[in-house]
Amino acid sequence: MFETLPALSPDPILGLSAAFKEDPSPHKIDLGVGVYKDEHGNTPILKAVSMAQAVLQGRETSKVYITPQGHQGYINGMLDLMFGKDSQVLADKRVAAVQAPGGCGALRILAELLIRCNKDTVVWVSDPTWANHMPLLGDAGITLKTYPYFDKAKATIKFDEMMDCLKDVKKGDVVLLHGCCHNPTGADLSNQQWQAVAALASTNGFLPFVDVAYQGFGDGLEEDAYGLRLLADSVDEMIVAASCSKNFGLYRERVGLAAIITKDASVAKIAQSQIQSVARGIYSMPPSYGGALVDIILADGALNQIWKSEVSEMRERMITLRQLLVENLSMQGVDKDFSFINEQKGMFSFLCISPEHVQHLRSEHSVYFVDSSRVNIAGISKSNVEALAKAIAATLKA
Ligand code: LMR
Repeated sequence: MFETLPALSPDPILGLSAAFKEDPSPHKIDLGVGVYKDEHGNTPILKAVSMAQAVLQGRETSKVYITPQGHQGYINGMLDLMFGKDSQVLADKRVAAVQAPGGCGALRILAELLIRCNKDTVVWVSDPTWANHMPLLGDAGITLKTYPYFDKAKATIKFDEMMDCLKDVKKGDVVLLHGCCHNPTGADLSNQQWQAVAALASTNGFLPFVDVAYQGFGDGLEEDAYGLRLLADSVDEMIVAASCSKNFGLYRERVGLAAIITKDASVAKIAQSQIQSVARGIYSMPPSYGGALVDIILADGALNQIWKSEVSEMRERMITLRQLLVENLSMQGVDKDFSFINEQKGMFSFLCISPEHVQHLRSEHSVYFVDSSRVNIAGISKSNVEALAKAIAATLKA
C-alpha cells in the first residue's frame, strides 16, 4: 500500500542539516536550523542543565508514568516565567496548561483543541511565518490564512497593512503571533504596536494564539514577555504555545507547554480536562526528563541565577554577531544597506536577498541557510564572519 504514496522533498529547514553534512568543503558554514552555537560551532549543554541533571539523578527513584498534564512544578514555573509571578490571570485561576512534547507538540495539541471547539477554525499566520507552523496546524484540520507582516524590500514590519487585515478578521478566528524573536524575520513588534494589537483583539474578538519559543533571546526574559502579558491582561481568552528548546538548550528532550486562558476558573477546569484528553489521544503523556530538569532550574534560586546568566550570555553573543556581520558586510563594500540586521531580535535575521542568491551561496560558497534568506545568527563566529561577508558580497555582485 505504501508504494502509492509520493516521495516528499526534504524538510525546508531540517533538510539543510543533511545537505550541510554531505558537503565536503572544509570552509562550509551552517546558518540553517535554529540551534544556538558557541564560537566553536558547538551547542553545549547549559551549566544549569548539567547541574539539574545531577540533582535529578539523585532524586528520581522510579520510571513509572507521569500524569497526562506533566510535571505540575514545571507547569507552574513556566507559567510564572511567561506571565509573571504577579499575573492576574494566574491569581484568578483562569489558566489551563499541560507540559507538551516540545513547542511543536504544544502547537499541535492546541490546534486539535481548536478543532474540537469549531471544526471550521481559521488561524491567521504572519506572512512569512515559521515553515513548520503550516503542517503543525494545517494537518490538524485548521484553515490557514495569512496577514501581511514583513516587507522584504524595505526590511521592515508592514504594521499598517497588518492592522488593516486584522481589523477584518472575524470574531472567533484565531491570530497567531510570535511572542518575541519572530521566526523567520527577527522583526518584532514594538511595545506600542503590541498595545495596538491587544486593543484590536479585545474590540474585534479574535483569539490571540502566542508562540513563545525564544523568551530571553531578544531583549531579556521579562522584556520579551511584554506582548504576551499585555494580551493576557487585555482579553478574556487566549492560547499560548511555549518551547524550552532554545532558552534551556533542551532541543532533543522535547519540552514545551500549551496554555489556555479562559473567561473564568470554571471554564479553565473544562479546558484542562479537554486538553489532557487531546494529549491522551495523541501521545498519552509527555516525556518526563526535560520538564523535570526545567522544574529543578526554575525552583532553585542558585540554579535559576546560573540559567539566567547563561541566557544573557547567549543573547549578548547573538547581538555581537549581528554587529560583526553588518560591519564585515560594509567592509566588503556591498551596496545594500544591511544595518537592519542590528535592529532585528533573537536567533534569526532575514538577509532580504533573493532565493537565487541563497542558492548561489549554497552551491558556490557552501553557505547554508533557508531559501527565504533566513539565517541563524548563532551559526556566525569570529572565525567565519569574514568569509561569510565575502561570499555574500561576491554573490550579490555575480
Ligand atoms: C528552526 O526554526 O530552525 C527551529 O525551530 C528548528 C525547527 O524545528 O524548524
